[in-house]
Amino acid sequence: MKKIAVLTSGGDAPGMNAAIRAVTRAGIAKGWEVYGVQHGYAGLLAGEMRKLGPRDVGGIIQKGGTILGSARSEEFKTEEGQLKALRNLNQQGIDGLVVIGGNGSQTGAYVLHKRGLQVVGVASTIDNDLYGSDITIGVDTALNIALEAIDRLKVTASSHNRAFLVEVMGRDCGYIALMSGIAGGAEAICIPEVAEPPEAVAQALEDSYARGKAHGIVVVAEGAKYDADALAAYWKEHKEEIGFDLRTTKLGHVQRGGAPQVFDRLLASRLGAGAIDELTKGTSGMLVGLVKNRVATTPHEEIAGKHRPVDPRLFELARILAQ
Ligand code: F6P
Repeated sequence: MKKIAVLTSGGDAPGMNAAIRAVTRAGIAKGWEVYGVQHGYAGLLAGEMRKLGPRDVGGIIQKGGTILGSARSEEFKTEEGQLKALRNLNQQGIDGLVVIGGNGSQTGAYVLHKRGLQVVGVASTIDNDLYGSDITIGVDTALNIALEAIDRLKVTASSHNRAFLVEVMGRDCGYIALMSGIAGGAEAICIPEVAEPPEAVAQALEDSYARGKAHGIVVVAEGAKYDADALAAYWKEHKEEIGFDLRTTKLGHVQRGGAPQVFDRLLASRLGAGAIDELTKGTSGMLVGLVKNRVATTPHEEIAGKHRPVDPRLFELARILAQ
């Protein structure tokens, strides 16, 4: 019998619970024992794990967050920390690990694989910046939350002839800003991948005002070179020229806490079960993701530590559609 462990790490993402459920139940269906590690790599270091049965993961598919908890661990980045994690797994007789998470989490998975543990990753982050998966668990739900906020802000903006800076998540990647901006009909979008100067954003709004628009929506990723605060400061000085009055709304972690929608539940179920299939085959050091709508694997070696940037053609599309 195989004994495996599953953990969630990094920023939580809607659908992580569905992935935990899929890993647990697909593992048990193989006749394996499945252990849940609490609080990501930090819990691995503290030896916090418990056996999961099918009922332990009942009633969680519809819940946001992660029942296992998540954390970002500095200690795990050290050699000493990694050896301690392996010792703890060894003591429990665990011979396989599933890591559900984004970039930093998959880098950690790769490290454990290189140290000899059988590890597979499951692509999950609201940022959608992982190579090896066209889309990651959590991003669709997070986008829908951002979009609902943008739609609502546009309504009040139009009533008052205002502009809104809507700050969304994404410190390294502009995917949420770009996609919610296109879907929400934003007048301008600011992302980390393109250093749009405040003058250009102001010009886009000035033009919108001149064209008779009743609102100006600017979706700004938190990691954009000129973030919401920088843009608001510029605005203060050039208020008269731009025309619109300005308000700022920062969505922050609201985007992460939602109940997973159908796309994320299904994606998480497929990828979680896919991770068990891969462990069965003896796979290690691989990320399980969705590529061209199929569950597929990509070596951790190719993806660890890299951020997948947004498609620049979509940025151009956003500009064209903003007219
Ligand atoms: O990586 C996911 C993410 O939500 C990013 O979009 C965001 O920049 C970051 O996590 C926030 O991290 P924390 O929850 O640690 O503040």
